[in-house]
Amino acid sequence: MTNPTPWWRDAVIYQIYPRSWADGNGDGVGDLPGITARLPYLAELGVDAVWLSPFYVSPQADAGYDVADYRDIDPVFGSLSDADALIARAHQLGLRVIVDLVPNHTSDEHAWFQAALAAGPGSLERDRYIFRDGDGADGALPPNDWSSVFGGGAWTRIREADGRPGQWYLHLFDVKQPDLNWENPQVRSEFEDILRFWLDRGVDGFRVDVAHGLVKAKGLPDWSGPMNMLDLPDPTQRPPMWDQDGVHEIYRSWRAVLDGYNPRDAEGYDSARDRVMCAEAWVDPPERLARYVRPDEFHQAFNFDYLNAPWQADSLRATIAASLAADDAVGAPTTWVLSNHDVVRHASRLGLPVGTARPNGIGADDTQPDQELGARRARAASTIMLALPGGAYIYQGEELGLPEHTALPDEVRQDPTFARTAGAELGRDGCRIPMTWEKDSPAYGFNDTGRTWLPQPTEFADLAVDQQVGVAASSLELYRRLLTERRDRGIGGGSLTWADVDPDVLSFTIRGTTGEQTTMLANLSAASVTIPPGHEVLVDSDPDGDGTQVAPDTAVWLRRTS
Ligand code: NOJ
Repeated sequence: MTNPTPWWRDAVIYQIYPRSWADGNGDGVGDLPGITARLPYLAELGVDAVWLSPFYVSPQADAGYDVADYRDIDPVFGSLSDADALIARAHQLGLRVIVDLVPNHTSDEHAWFQAALAAGPGSLERDRYIFRDGDGADGALPPNDWSSVFGGGAWTRIREADGRPGQWYLHLFDVKQPDLNWENPQVRSEFEDILRFWLDRGVDGFRVDVAHGLVKAKGLPDWSGPMNMLDLPDPTQRPPMWDQDGVHEIYRSWRAVLDGYNPRDAEGYDSARDRVMCAEAWVDPPERLARYVRPDEFHQAFNFDYLNAPWQADSLRATIAASLAADDAVGAPTTWVLSNHDVVRHASRLGLPVGTARPNGIGADDTQPDQELGARRARAASTIMLALPGGAYIYQGEELGLPEHTALPDEVRQDPTFARTAGAELGRDGCRIPMTWEKDSPAYGFNDTGRTWLPQPTEFADLAVDQQVGVAASSLELYRRLLTERRDRGIGGGSLTWADVDPDVLSFTIRGTTGEQTTMLANLSAASVTIPPGHEVLVDSDPDGDGTQVAPDTAVWLRRTS
């Protein structure tokens, strides 16, 4: 039976962090030719698309999220023809390609920012960024009290061309990431052009960085609350830099650009050709996030409430239900995610005591995650996630069960957060370690020289791809099985009905687009649970599962036998 669901509504998308996936030229940093050569692995894994974190020209002050030229590839990653080759190869393998768009800020080395520095206060060039005079008699104080997400203040004072201390510019992230002024029409038309540039090269969509941050509240009022909206004690509060209503008209105009490549109202419209956008928007409550996925805006928005939900059945149940209800109300799918390049990997996160706030990195002096428990829960968590209707994102290496590197020496850390907080926040390097392909090759097969921009921990050796392929009990084979069943049973496009079980057991049944029913049952209690009568196990996150019991911290997919 053919699946009538547009591809992006139930897609499983694999995030490649280009620095760390595969290194073709052996310089220790991953690159596009390296990725292209390894793409068949993803076709075999059974994902629908890849999302590549930024590969554009960049001084790499924030690992490429500081873009100096949006229309070219950084030499460290390759060239535009390497990008063309990657897109072509992916398409040949049936994989769609999503690229990262970074519209909130550019690099300070972008030609526009350099022109703004040279042009002086009041110029058109300055108006493309957020420059303000300082406070106080001599303008020596920042224009408001905002802090940077990476620590420290959100404003930096420049020297004017004549050498005197001058205006301040806003950077919600690093000092090398000046925020653009989205009230400026040139900024708007430039990004529509950038979208077209990549759409014309054949990409299938965009993951949009900091989608909740482009428009700031009028007058830039002070804000002393937390910088992460998901940390607000009162989720109805809205900080002046996030989730302002004005962002939505920007996304409507982008959606029109994307739809122009495959007009929905034209004869011959084919949803398989849809170009899509996914919002990275740390926004609460779910109803506010759902505004980003209204029919004329984004197709998807990462569900970070789900990523943050503690390992407790009632929290997971409530988060899933609230997200589905909010998204259903606007006709959008929910987009589930457990790990990415910004958070502690879920194989380690879930090994921390339940209720621990998600740390920004884990170091050798911190409480160490229980690796075995984390690995067990991670397998169960992925078994839950891939049973949910909607889209899902997999972060490179999670299919191998890779844990966080929790013992990186400080001198190798590169996340700007580490320096900007004087080490108080370790930052995100521990989840960005180069991939492990072959146990006995240099750099575990990341390249053939053994060089790596971050050191790989020795415990990665036994988790390498070649140690897991064909091993039924491995994490990789579990993911493959889940992805195959998910596709064959039409789970991603299905509808969910809750099953009423023990409060510490999470269970629902999905009626898939094929008409088949699949029950997911996850045991988050301390005692084993018996598989309900009339069911048999299709997939078990526990390699030692016996087909009759679901052990603690295990999830199973069941089908009816009668
Ligand atoms: C979110 C990205 O995922 C993160 O890696 C980056 O540092 C910030 N946005 C700033 O661009």
